[in-house]
Amino acid sequence: MPQPPRPLPLLAALLALALAGTPARAPAQGTPAEAVIEARVSALLAQMTLEEKVGQLTQYSGEQQKTGPVTFADDRLAAIRSGRVGSVLNVTGADNTRHYQQLAMQSRLKIPLLVAQDVIHGYGTTFPIPLAEAASWDLEAMRLSAHVAATEAAAAGVHWTFAPMVDIARDPRWGRVMEGAGEDTYLGSRIAAARVQGFQGEQPGALDSVMATAKHFAAYGAAVGGRDYNTTDMSERQLRETYLPPFRAAADAGVATFMNSFNDLNGVPATASRHLQREILKGEWGFQGIVVSDWGSIGELVKHGVAANDKEAAYLAIMAGNDIDMESNAYARYLAELVNEGRVPVTVVDEAVRRVLRMKFRLGLFEDPYRYSDEAREQRVLADPANAVAARRVARESIVLLKNEGSLLPLAATLKKIAFIGPLAKATRDNLGGWSIELQGVDYTKTIPSAFTQLQKRLAGHTELLYAQGSTVSGTSKAGFGEAVAVARQADLVLLSVGEDIDMAGEAKSRSNIHLPGVQEELVRAIVATGKPVVLLVSAGRPLVLEYAAEHVPAIVYTWWLGSEAGNAIADVLTGGYNPSGKLPISFPRSEGQIPIYYNHPNTGRPSDGDGDRSFRSAYIDLSIHPRWAFGHGLSYTSFAYSDLKLDRHAVHGNETIDVSAVVRNSGTRAGTEVVQLYLRDPVASVARPIQELRGFERVTLAPGERRTVHFALDREALSFWNADLKWVAEPGEFRIMIGAASDDIRLRDTFTLLD
Ligand code: NOJ
Repeated sequence: MPQPPRPLPLLAALLALALAGTPARAPAQGTPAEAVIEARVSALLAQMTLEEKVGQLTQYSGEQQKTGPVTFADDRLAAIRSGRVGSVLNVTGADNTRHYQQLAMQSRLKIPLLVAQDVIHGYGTTFPIPLAEAASWDLEAMRLSAHVAATEAAAAGVHWTFAPMVDIARDPRWGRVMEGAGEDTYLGSRIAAARVQGFQGEQPGALDSVMATAKHFAAYGAAVGGRDYNTTDMSERQLRETYLPPFRAAADAGVATFMNSFNDLNGVPATASRHLQREILKGEWGFQGIVVSDWGSIGELVKHGVAANDKEAAYLAIMAGNDIDMESNAYARYLAELVNEGRVPVTVVDEAVRRVLRMKFRLGLFEDPYRYSDEAREQRVLADPANAVAARRVARESIVLLKNEGSLLPLAATLKKIAFIGPLAKATRDNLGGWSIELQGVDYTKTIPSAFTQLQKRLAGHTELLYAQGSTVSGTSKAGFGEAVAVARQADLVLLSVGEDIDMAGEAKSRSNIHLPGVQEELVRAIVATGKPVVLLVSAGRPLVLEYAAEHVPAIVYTWWLGSEAGNAIADVLTGGYNPSGKLPISFPRSEGQIPIYYNHPNTGRPSDGDGDRSFRSAYIDLSIHPRWAFGHGLSYTSFAYSDLKLDRHAVHGNETIDVSAVVRNSGTRAGTEVVQLYLRDPVASVARPIQELRGFERVTLAPGERRTVHFALDREALSFWNADLKWVAEPGEFRIMIGAASDDIRLRDTFTLLD
């Protein structure tokens, strides 16, 4: 893993500098070389007072956005001027960030600020929410999305994004499921690395990149009951097997920072967890970057009941390895006191400060504190039409065709009248989704096209597009039903656009009921009762329970929250301009009662017999145990045939790699993209293993009739797991390979044996 050098004392650093050959990676223009950095960090640290050191570990929020409850009152601007603040969040725009840096330049040592922001799925140009992007299974597209976001944010003076969120989430009630890559550890790890690469680019300090943050460390996605900020409890084996790998992948990809999390894990709040931060992250993984707390999470140690007051909270956090205090003001008030009392060794503070200073040098901020805050670049970059093109590409790849009976889609040009009905047919702002902060205050109706307007343009000349709202998203009035039904009756086909509004998923947006909100399900029933063919479009920040629609609506398209190009992307898919290729990164339950539901579960001692005999089996007597739509599911307007599964060997020794190949053919009449998925099962092991686990995937785009051989390399890592002694092992014996179009649509199978 590409780790920067360990901190060295000044003399050793100078010696290293003298001896250093050509660095592996040339520094970005305007930034110093790595070997120089350590010496400069040491020299600066030697000049700093304890208060100035604590300042580097203090992060305040500006006034522009509110991404948390402001927990204290202080003259923040005065604090920056006196060197008592090292970083800020919620301060954006070239102009504004320049102003903040100017304040920092009035401090004694003129240490520049780090400017951080939650750039989660785009800065100005809004990309699909991360969960939607994960449905593309297109790592290149996700790299691109993060890169565009970084380019725009960096031009507006932002150095650091609090993304990607790499929390595995198996509970769609949890509002933050929208911010991650879904339920699967393997897919989530690949995506974590891609997003880090996209945000950070090749070189720290390049002006089209920002520092990324792997968050929330750790297990935040396992909040009990899907209730945000709630407690988590799990075995160390589960933690390491399911929840930590995406963080490790982010660290291996060189992520600059980690954020810890609000939850307690097995009784210890993550912010105070020495085990997570010092032992695993900074110890086992050798992470050299910054660990920032979550908003106010140091102060919340008091509410958790593990610290009597903020001073004790500061003590626990710094000793546990939390470097920066975001918005608790606990370090600012108590850390120097704790050092002076001899409770916190100054070396602990120094080590944290080094991590912060090192990043500031890497970004070239000591050379030029204003290098990111460039108004001309900001205007140019934010107006770059290529960004919207990228957002449209990613948005259409994120759409998942859940159902398409009778090939209702793509829309036939012979249709004379289509009714576009529903509260989200003309949505603009709601398509952006949570965490699209930068666009707030903009008149969305003028800047972002809706699916209705874009479709109307495409159909002009041959198909008339009618409209009725029917209902609002969450209101209880059915007053619009009559008009909607009348409009539906005039049409040859109905597009029905329903879902969640922008405020229904995200932080502190957990829902206990994940059906369609308000009277929308009744609207669906009323429209279906007209007997017209219906295509349901669902915009949402999470999987919804859609049982009535799944049974009665012939075609369903999941459009998530697709961002500023949602309208174009939806029109592309409906008209066949783009053949849908998305696959679900998370299971869709049939009822909230199935949650948590995920495909890679163990077999149990009494596995269910499909949905057949349920007596004395691990089943529900009143419901299937299978999800409505499984992990990996997603249809296309064409079909794909799988054949010729080949293993280059059926017995492997030690570290040998097996080449697994299969042929995929486009057996339909349209060009299309298939995501070929490889699953593995270790049927007999020292601990119960999942019935299947994703271990590879490949997107293949094929013309009608075209075939391609897809290869997967399975090495020992792919066969390994954490055993009962918490050792990472691959155990000899049989392994089963499954290749298919979804976790529940396996087309090819074979086995091989690991000999030793
Ligand atoms: C709290 C959220 O949990 C975190 O993800 C975010 O980065 C911070 N607030 C800062 O806004």
